Amino acid sequence: MATSSIHECPCLWNKETPPQDKKMDEKKLKIEKVVYGGMGLARFEGKVHLVPFSAPGDTVLADCREKKDYSICTIKSIIEPSPVRKKPICPHYMVCGGCHLQHVKQEAEIEIKKEFIQETIERIGGIKIQLKEFISGKFHYYRNKLEYSTFRGKPAFHGIDNRPFLMNECFIDDKNIMKVRKNIQGLRGVRKLILRTDDTKRVFAILKGNFNQRKNRRILNEAGVYYSISPDKKWNREEFLEFRTGGLNLVVSPLSFFQVNKEILERMIDLLPEFLLPDKKDIVIDAYSGVGTFGLSVSRYVKEVRLIEESKFSSDDAIHNIRRNYIENIKVFRGKVEENLDAFNGATKVILDPPREGLHKNVIVALNEIRPERIVYISCNPSTLARDIKLLEDFKVDEVYGFNMFPLSYHVETIAILERE
Ligand SMILES: C[S@@+](CC[C@H](N)C(=O)[O-])C[C@H]1O[C@@H](n2cnc3c(N)ncnc32)[C@H](O)[C@@H]1O
Repeated sequence: MATSSIHECPCLWNKETPPQDKKMDEKKLKIEKVVYGGMGLARFEGKVHLVPFSAPGDTVLADCREKKDYSICTIKSIIEPSPVRKKPICPHYMVCGGCHLQHVKQEAEIEIKKEFIQETIERIGGIKIQLKEFISGKFHYYRNKLEYSTFRGKPAFHGIDNRPFLMNECFIDDKNIMKVRKNIQGLRGVRKLILRTDDTKRVFAILKGNFNQRKNRRILNEAGVYYSISPDKKWNREEFLEFRTGGLNLVVSPLSFFQVNKEILERMIDLLPEFLLPDKKDIVIDAYSGVGTFGLSVSRYVKEVRLIEESKFSSDDAIHNIRRNYIENIKVFRGKVEENLDAFNGATKVILDPPREGLHKNVIVALNEIRPERIVYISCNPSTLARDIKLLEDFKVDEVYGFNMFPLSYHVETIAILERE
């Protein structure tokens, strides 16, 4: 039997281990699976035990802190490591908390995420599904947007213990961002720093915090940042990120949403016509449209597209993008989807891509009334997706796809295709 101590194993908390107290109880646990949130689950003595940094198949000795219906445990040692376990590549893995699944092999991460989606849709949505496909791309250097706090004047991540720490290599940072980030020093009074990059490889910075703005901008400039803004100050729509995707040229203002993993976004755009089955008679709603990526990409196949988006920046970008790509059959509705339900009148197909909270209840009511032929529901939160599927009672699930939009973390993108019953 293989045994490794906490200090030998790179996958366990060491100095970050929460302080032991009287309520801690040592247990030998066999990890069944990893659940949404990235923790391993073990059942023992009729109770559920959740174990961060464990892998399915591990047998561990863990200190467990009792909660009402379950306990949270810290691994003390691995008695028998799972065959899917691997050494995390990042030296900050134990302190960072940005990635949750670096200690499992890539094939295992995919299996874990497939199970998350299927299990969540069954438990919350009440229907048993089999994923049609799970699409994954590169695992490293995929994020075109990173958010930092600052520490000693440099960009820093907030660790598991909620303290900032300075990192060297980050294996999910886009390499352009990482190169520039490593040069940044001497920032003052910056509460939050967001770095974004685009297809031209320029790096944009968004700074929050008001102190010494001009000096901070100069520092960023010298570090290689192309353009920096503060959302606290007026922005004159001066500079945009630029992306080419799905045959479109898109501009994205630094404050607008854009998917963080362009490789996976492109796979989604490629598959969208297959999901939506667009037809020249169709009126398509793209609700929560952002800068219009999905709606614009299907506009050539249909009669009309209506984008609904609440952010002023994103909806302005969408208008810009429609003109830039010489598209004539798209209308933009600026505002909340739940306050623009008239836009749904006559809709035959609907694309939904809400934030993590899922759909507003009035949007569900409207969809059940309007009864479009097909809904393509894109979601970054399987729990709210499953809840909404259940509430969309006039529709049945045709197919569900998983997308590894956020490799190494527990987060996953799901697309459910619903058909009117
Ligand atoms: C997950 S993003 C998707 C954006 C776009 N579909 C894309 O892939 O780039 C969600 C978008 O919904 C917008 N949003 C959030 N709540 C909204 C609401 N209640 N009504 C309309 N738009 C909303 C956000 O501003 C954001 O652009």
